[in-house]
Amino acid sequence: MSWLAIAPGRVNLIGEHTDYNGLPVFPMAIDRDVRIEFAVADGPVVRLDSALARFDPFTFQLKRPIEAAGQGHWSNYVRAAAKGLLEHGVRLERGIEGIVTGNVPIASGLSSSSALVVASALALLKANGVEVARDAGPAPTISRLELAALMARAERFVGLEGGGMDQAACLHGVAGHALRIEFEPLRVTPVAVPEGWRWVVVSSLVRAEKSGTARDAYNERARQCREALELVRGAFANDRPATTTDDRPGAVALGYDDLVADADMEVLLRRARSVLAPVLFRRFRHVVTEGRRVALAEVAMRDGDMRAFGDLMVESHKSLRGDYEVSTPELNAIVEVALKAGAAGARLTGAGFGGCAVVLCGDTAVGPVMKELVARFYEPRLGRAPTHDEMFAPKPSGSARVQIADSSGGGL
Ligand code: GLA
Repeated sequence: MSWLAIAPGRVNLIGEHTDYNGLPVFPMAIDRDVRIEFAVADGPVVRLDSALARFDPFTFQLKRPIEAAGQGHWSNYVRAAAKGLLEHGVRLERGIEGIVTGNVPIASGLSSSSALVVASALALLKANGVEVARDAGPAPTISRLELAALMARAERFVGLEGGGMDQAACLHGVAGHALRIEFEPLRVTPVAVPEGWRWVVVSSLVRAEKSGTARDAYNERARQCREALELVRGAFANDRPATTTDDRPGAVALGYDDLVADADMEVLLRRARSVLAPVLFRRFRHVVTEGRRVALAEVAMRDGDMRAFGDLMVESHKSLRGDYEVSTPELNAIVEVALKAGAAGARLTGAGFGGCAVVLCGDTAVGPVMKELVARFYEPRLGRAPTHDEMFAPKPSGSARVQIADSSGGGL
């Protein structure tokens, strides 16, 4: 029998570079996915090929230790999934043989890599009779939340100190909904997207490879955030007890989430400025203000106030550009053109350093905004209109699943 593991990409609407700091994010799963059509292998082996000629076929054994292939090799995402499951204690006695296809643009900040990790995990679990359930259940079962957290850790195998947004969005997408995702512990809350509004994904035409050059700059930001938190925590230790009121075992002292929840923003920033060097202060300011913006954006969406949502996106972009320094001239140009053409909001999405921008438009503005982007961004750079992979309006979509190939039934 042949199976199909389907895992969607995601576009993050707001809450950028907050997940690895323990603050919420607000993405949606999109109607673009990575698919693995597979048969269960006789033994513990993975044999996969890709529909794209530039990705070589590969084989590896499902035995610890699973070694990484060369840096940037696409098999590392599949290896990461297998390694994560094995380390979690899942017995992988049977592997998979098959082919990977998909239509999530690659290296565009839309999580094609996490979609491949999640699709691989779902295929391996199916091959070994482990059910993936909405909630925790008797073995052999793994919950979607558990799997998302596990795959977020597993994907660090590729060397990016990523947070948990992408895997959680992929495993918890709901049609017509955005997702508020919180961390430590992982929680996902779907929020209905109001009628009459669309997001447009706009490629900056600059690749942002998770395993390539963007990786070091990303990891540097993560280090700076940890350092800044350490210093601000020290400054606050004199004002209040150094532990949170959280009595979970192992709860750590004052995190970004406590700071954003407890402190008056002005007081917090004044205090931070007094103990942080300018670069660390800017990184810190982005993280805490972005955390606040996510909360406000969720309220705006629930209230149907998408103009307010758009304004928050614009603030987010400014902060990512000035304070976090992850934007590029191309992303800034897209945001400017889109806003001038009547978009309600626009910002870079994903890690930045290239990739895509996401633009919020009322239904009637979608056409004119796209037209302006073609005329002012794509034509001058490419001498042609963008392809459907370069500019498109994705639908908020459902989550990753496995089904019988050539059938719409049999999902997990
Ligand atoms: C990448 C990471 C995510 C997140 C974003 C930035 O996509 O994989 O975990 O940190 O960057 O918001």
